[in-house]
Amino acid sequence: MDIVIKGGTLVLGEGVFPAEIGITGEKVAAVGQSLDGGRVIEATGCLVLPGGIDAHTHLGLSLGPDLASSDDFESGTIAAACGGTTTVINYAEQCGYASLLEALDAWQAKAAGRAVIDYSFHMLIIDPCPDVIEEMAAIVQQGVTSFKALLAYKGIVMLDDAQLFRVLERARDLRALVNVHAENGHLIDELVAACRAAGQTAPRYHALTRPEVAEAEATERALALAEAAGAPIYIVHITCARAVDALRRAQARGQAAFGETCPQYLLLDERVYESEDFDTAAGYVLSPPLRERGNQGALWTALTAGTIQTVGTDHCPFTREQKARGRDDFTLIPNGLPGVETRVPLLYHYGVREGRLSLSDWVRLTATNPARLFGLYPRKGTLLPGSDADLVIFDPGKRVILDAGHLHTHTDYSPYAGWEVQGWPRHVLQRGRFIVEDGEFVGQAGGGRFIPRRPFALPASLA
Ligand code: URP
Ligand code: ZN
Ligand code: ZN
Repeated sequence: MDIVIKGGTLVLGEGVFPAEIGITGEKVAAVGQSLDGGRVIEATGCLVLPGGIDAHTHLGLSLGPDLASSDDFESGTIAAACGGTTTVINYAEQCGYASLLEALDAWQAKAAGRAVIDYSFHMLIIDPCPDVIEEMAAIVQQGVTSFKALLAYKGIVMLDDAQLFRVLERARDLRALVNVHAENGHLIDELVAACRAAGQTAPRYHALTRPEVAEAEATERALALAEAAGAPIYIVHITCARAVDALRRAQARGQAAFGETCPQYLLLDERVYESEDFDTAAGYVLSPPLRERGNQGALWTALTAGTIQTVGTDHCPFTREQKARGRDDFTLIPNGLPGVETRVPLLYHYGVREGRLSLSDWVRLTATNPARLFGLYPRKGTLLPGSDADLVIFDPGKRVILDAGHLHTHTDYSPYAGWEVQGWPRHVLQRGRFIVEDGEFVGQAGGGRFIPRRPFALPASLA
C-alpha cells in the first residue's frame, strides 16, 4: 500500500469504529488493523471520513454579460477542498445555447483544467421543447443523470406545470432524477409589483415577497406532478416546516421523493434582513430567503427522521460590490451566499457537537446520501475497499473563527463572520493525493476530474 492512515476513528454513514485505512494508487485498498504501507499518516484523536459531496453549487454561474458568481471552478473548489468537500455537483445552466449538449460542453470547458476536486453537473432545463426533451437522453448517456427545473424566476427560467410534467416523465424513462427549485414564481412577481408600486426597495422586501407559502405551494405542486408522472423527485434548498411537511406526506404516500436543506436555513434566520446597513442585509439575499427561526427545529428533525436526506450549500457567492447593484432596488441584488467551505465544519459543530446529529448522520447527510442519490456510491461517499480514496482527516478539537479573510471563497464577507466553530479538516486526500495538508491547500488546478454518474436507482438505504 502507498499510504496507511493509523490511529483515527473511521466515521462512515454506515457506522463508526476505530480502523486503519490503506490506500493504493487512487483507491482504498483495505480497512482494518495493523496494515502495512509506505507513508504512515498519524490520525490519533482525529475522525477519518469520506470526502464531502456538495450536490448544490453554482460555480461560474453567469447572470448576464457582466455578472457572474464570484467563484469559478478553481477558487470554489479550493474553498470546497479546504472545508472537507472532495466532489461538487454544479448546476449547468443552458448558457444561451439551444442545445443541452452544447451547453454541457461549455460547462465541461469551464471546469476542465481549473477544478481542484472532482465534479459533476446537474443539467438545467429552461425550455423543454421537443428537441430538448429528446436530447435529455444524450445528457444521461454522458453520465449527467440529474436535471434541474425551477418553478420561480418567471420569464427567465421558470417552467409551467405542463413543462415540468414533461421533464419528469422523460427523466423517469431515462432513470434520471429531477431537482426542483420550488417557489411559486407567479405569486412572487405579484408581490414584487406591489412593493415596487409602494416604493419599497430595501433588501428586507426580497424576503417579504418570497413568503413561506410560495415555497409550500410550489413544493406541494412539484410533488403532485412527480406523483402523476410516476417519477422520482428531489426538492432543493428546503427552508421551512410547511415544505418539510409536504415532503413527508409525499413519502408517506410511497413516492420516491427526496429533499435537501442547507446550513444557512438551519442556522440563520430572517432577522438579518432588518439591518439598516444595506451591505449587511444584501449579503443574506438568496432564494428562497432565510425564514422565521421557528422553522429550524423542523429542519433539524427532518434530517434525523430521514425526511430530508442531504445538506448541500447552494454555494453562489457574490461580492459586496456585486450585491450593491440592488442598492435602490432589491430585485437587482444578485441572489446567493457562499457556503461550500463551511458546510462540513458547521454541521459538525452545530449538529454533532450540539447533540442534534450523530457522527454517522453527519457523514450520511454531507457525503453518503448525496452519493447514493446521485449515482456516485460506492465510488464516492464511503470508504470501502475499491472506493476512491477521497477522505478527510478531521481534527475535532481545532477551533476556527469564521471570517472572509481566512476562508478561500472569492467573497469579501462571510454570512457567519465572527462565529467560532470547533472541528476543522486537517488533511484532505482526493483519489489518494493530498490536496490539503495541515490545513493548507496543496492541490493543483486541473487536479479534479469529471465523474460520470450512474442512472438513478432507488437507494436501498438512506436513513
Ligand atoms: O439565491 C440563490 N439560491 N441563488 C442560486 C440559484 C438558486 O436559486 O438556487
Ligand atoms: Zn434554487
Ligand atoms: Zn441553487
